[in-house]
Amino acid sequence: MNNPDRINVAVVYGGRSSEHSVSCVSAGAVMSHLDPARYNVIPVGITQDGTWVVGETDYDKLAINGRTMPVVAGGQAVTLSIDPAHAGELRYTDGDNVGELYARADVIFPVLHGRFGEDGTIQGLFELSGVPYVGTGVLSSACGQDKEATKKLFNAEGLPIGQDVVLRGRTELTEAEKDLLGLPVFVKPARGGSSIGISKVESWDDFPAAVNLAREHDHKVIVESEIVGPEVEVGVVQYADGRVVASVPAQLVGTDASEEGFYGFDTKYLDNVVAAHIPAPLSQQHTALIQSLAVEAFHALSCEGIARVDFFVTEAGPVLNEINTMPGFTPISMYPQVFAASGVSYEQLLSILIERALATHRPKE
Ligand SMILES: Nc1ncnc2c1ncn2[C@@H]1O[C@H](COP(=O)(O)OP(=O)(O)O)[C@@H](O)[C@H]1O
Ligand SMILES: [Mg+2]
Repeated sequence: MNNPDRINVAVVYGGRSSEHSVSCVSAGAVMSHLDPARYNVIPVGITQDGTWVVGETDYDKLAINGRTMPVVAGGQAVTLSIDPAHAGELRYTDGDNVGELYARADVIFPVLHGRFGEDGTIQGLFELSGVPYVGTGVLSSACGQDKEATKKLFNAEGLPIGQDVVLRGRTELTEAEKDLLGLPVFVKPARGGSSIGISKVESWDDFPAAVNLAREHDHKVIVESEIVGPEVEVGVVQYADGRVVASVPAQLVGTDASEEGFYGFDTKYLDNVVAAHIPAPLSQQHTALIQSLAVEAFHALSCEGIARVDFFVTEAGPVLNEINTMPGFTPISMYPQVFAASGVSYEQLLSILIERALATHRPKE
């Protein structure tokens, strides 16, 4: 039975993005780390078709099983009230009929990655519904999900980024663009995640196929010149009092030795070939620089609460790759690990995020 003295946390996961399964794995880990003395967990799954259902209470079922990724298969449908007078109410639905209360969430934790989860759309729903939620708001979510917007905002703040060209509609680069970028290039859906749809192109002959693959995920495609250097990831968290703190950096090891040749989907989640040095073996000066750049990147996008900021450390210094406004929370994900190495346990990290969400909620606006 739910204990009324505890905070009801609705953990929403799955969803319509290509990162559906990663979200399920992240959510399983989040739910099993929420301190039962303080929180009642309300699991809410979203199927790949977008139906909200009562979620899984056996968190082991949300783990990766061999090379099989979990999915939200279906179940009793529920809906979130969009009436602020009933903020946080989740009710069973049957066709068009809204029925009994499933649960009343004090706060929603959208453990969702990618489209319709990390891109501001669901954050807009929570704003309209008047329910507090973990993580960053509509604007920063939308900008963080779009690699073009992210880089433009980083650039406007004078933060270091690599060369890129955005393809709208066309499949070819001009000769001048090819010269600017050089080979190899990385071809990416502008609004993707988990490396899905990304190719490393070593020959211009392979370029159109890579653009077509990226377009399966987004009609807007971004082409970047290769940045050479180890990949370093930094967690950023914001406390209820507004303090923004960067974790120690992690340095990924083995991404280039992987079959994909970069930090691709299989390398990330399935192959168990990538490890990380935590903290990254960088000089104190480099570490401090990367941490301050991570905080600047967080503010460049007006982030709140949470972000993971990813870099390449080149010979000329750190270069920003991207920002994730709902980073992975799987047991092997960097975000919880870099904070554990910074003295903040997984459980504490979740509490900080929830307290921040509750502290900043503006119910009457
Ligand atoms: N410009 C680049 N230079 C070198 N490697 C890159 C570049 N862009 C991406 N990669 C490789 O591809 C991986 C996935 O790219 P990323 O932009 O982080 O996409 P996602 O949002 O899907 O994580 C990176 O972790 C890195 O290994
Ligand atoms: Mg990435």
